[in-house]
Amino acid sequence: MTAENQQKQRKILVTSALPYANGDIHIGHLLEYVQTDIWVRFQKSRGHQCIYVCADDTHGTPVMLRAQKEGKTPEEFIQESHAAHEKDFADALVGFDNYYTTHSEESKELTQDIYLKLKEKGHISSKTINQLYDPEKNMFLPDRFVQGTCPKCDAEDQYGDNCDNCGATYTPAELKNPKSAVSGATPITKESEHFFFDLKEFEGFLREWLSTGTREGVPHVQAEVQNKMNEWLDDLRKWDISRDAPYFGWEIPGEEGKYFYVWLDAPIGYMASFKNLCSKRDDLNFEDFWGKDSDAEVYHFIGKDIIYFHTLFWPSVLNGAGYRTPSAVWAHGFVTVNGNKMSKSKGTFIKARTYLEHFRPEFLRYYYAAKLSSRIDDFDLNLEDFVQRVNSDLVGKLVNIASRCAGFITKQFDGTLSNDIIEPELLSEFTGASEELAQHYENREFGRAIKHIMSLADKANAYIANEEPWKLAKNDDTKERAHQVCSLGINMFKVLATYLAPVLPELADKVQDFLKVDSLDWASAQNVLTGHEINKFKPMMQRIDMKQVEAMIEDSKEDLQEEAQLDENQADEPQLDDPIKDEIEFGDFDKIDLRIAKIAKAEHVEGADKLLKLQLDLGKGVTKQVFAGIKSAYNPEDLEGKLTVMVANLAPRKMRFGMSEGMVLAAGPGGKDLWIMNPDEGAQPGMRVK
Ligand code: MSP
Ligand code: ZN
Repeated sequence: MTAENQQKQRKILVTSALPYANGDIHIGHLLEYVQTDIWVRFQKSRGHQCIYVCADDTHGTPVMLRAQKEGKTPEEFIQESHAAHEKDFADALVGFDNYYTTHSEESKELTQDIYLKLKEKGHISSKTINQLYDPEKNMFLPDRFVQGTCPKCDAEDQYGDNCDNCGATYTPAELKNPKSAVSGATPITKESEHFFFDLKEFEGFLREWLSTGTREGVPHVQAEVQNKMNEWLDDLRKWDISRDAPYFGWEIPGEEGKYFYVWLDAPIGYMASFKNLCSKRDDLNFEDFWGKDSDAEVYHFIGKDIIYFHTLFWPSVLNGAGYRTPSAVWAHGFVTVNGNKMSKSKGTFIKARTYLEHFRPEFLRYYYAAKLSSRIDDFDLNLEDFVQRVNSDLVGKLVNIASRCAGFITKQFDGTLSNDIIEPELLSEFTGASEELAQHYENREFGRAIKHIMSLADKANAYIANEEPWKLAKNDDTKERAHQVCSLGINMFKVLATYLAPVLPELADKVQDFLKVDSLDWASAQNVLTGHEINKFKPMMQRIDMKQVEAMIEDSKEDLQEEAQLDENQADEPQLDDPIKDEIEFGDFDKIDLRIAKIAKAEHVEGADKLLKLQLDLGKGVTKQVFAGIKSAYNPEDLEGKLTVMVANLAPRKMRFGMSEGMVLAAGPGGKDLWIMNPDEGAQPGMRVK
């Protein structure tokens, strides 16, 4: 950034994705809200007008059904979860300027208005489609609310459109014995008129948007997202934006019994929250930020799972309705814990509330910042590393600088810092890092910023250790030197606390109090404290240990039991796409006898449209006959002679076509997309795979 830009006060509107009202905030969510909050606090500390809004995403079938089950109106239900979310965010030090709801007048007006503008410009069409319908509950069923037996592997109790057991994808209508997850009734197929937003008409606009950036030279999307979008742009379809009553949401004007699909009004919630804030603050004007000619910057922080909605639908909807489009959409990856998906059974599905009952918010904020970059890779929260980093960086390095120096100042020097700055070059290394660090924050390279800040902390500690003020202070000749060393130490500490303030706002408050300074905004790093009185030092952060982590994990498991009970009569919990199965012991795994097998013969089976009959050679004259459901992906001729991996000790199964004495291993969703395992070259038939 040039010096000229630096002085110009920017107008910036920032959002995080709106969390669903029917779920608790967890540490996965927090990655996003903490990332956004740090960026916003940084911009504010630079003196820019930076507004951070968010809201609950309240509409849709899951909220409607959940409220019914809890014997509440949807309005009551979303009000309770709003209060819980607000408290979680406040306690995690996420400082929204407004935390609103999509169930608001502003949202209703804006949604209906945007729809009518799109309609007027010819971007909306309608079509009659077939959908599964619950004849008892009298409602159309979203995919997630249909349960049945997998058409591919016969696993029972599979949801809507994909099988947890074999990974197959299908339409809900293809499920065997389909049941409504709401009432248990067998769904029927029913026609309904739906309304569509014609995304295809925005292909040109989107291609242009994708390949350009803002006036500030920031690209609209990250490079990784750009690649994905290029694929999507080749295949844009009409987007179904309507749902039938009963639905909790906004009615489509002029279309009785039709509601806007929750994902149409959700991002409009960003605007609605901001509009609501405008009504409370004189210095903000809606048009200045959202009007076609707005010179404000608008940034959306989101997770990688909702890129499609934010980079295709949302800019198109805004463009079609005559509003400005986002300056940029910034996606992050998903939180894993100790290298795995967050798991309820392992206790690593940690709610924000549970975390906060065990740890201070700043520890997680620091850990997230220390490892965040501007990319969309997944983010591993390694709990041992978490403990170690908090202890060594925050307690051992950062706060240590102040605690080593402060005592002398208070006890021996009247609580007043020295008038001299010795080693001005050392201090200017600290103050001089300002612009480089600002660039890192600006570019969302928080990890780089933290690394640099911690290397400065190392320098400060090394300096103090080398000078040994505790020895200098004992001797009258060197006492003044001790004063100067400790005063320099306190100044270095102040600069670091200033740079870390966006990440550690509570610590910054304590430091401000301790040092009796008015502000720790970004520019204040340059103010050197000489002859300045400070307060007595109070401990600012305590070490943490793995026992606390273990207790948090235990509590997260308890949460699960309560939830599992709730889950039994409630099908509206979000499902992971293909979750990892429950943990097994090595002994369980060891029961499976996997062998290298040579496909000696492969042939079609009369009357079977999915199976191939394989003769598998295990060497030493041992063969097994296996019927494998891979006909959709392989020609028998192509298989003969290949090596693969089989389960050799599976109980033989009598099939219509003969005995099947095992199983070959394959991956993929099914159909043409199915791949059998091949061992690396050199493996021989009969070898055990372990
Ligand atoms: N309601 C939608 C967003 C509408 S925005 C107009 C939604 N809600 S959510 O509650 O499921 O997720 C909110 C945000 O948290 C999303 O950006 C999502 O990607 C993010 N995360 C949810 N789980 C996460 C992890 N495990 N890790 C990182 N981010 C995660 O999507
Ligand atoms: Zn299946």
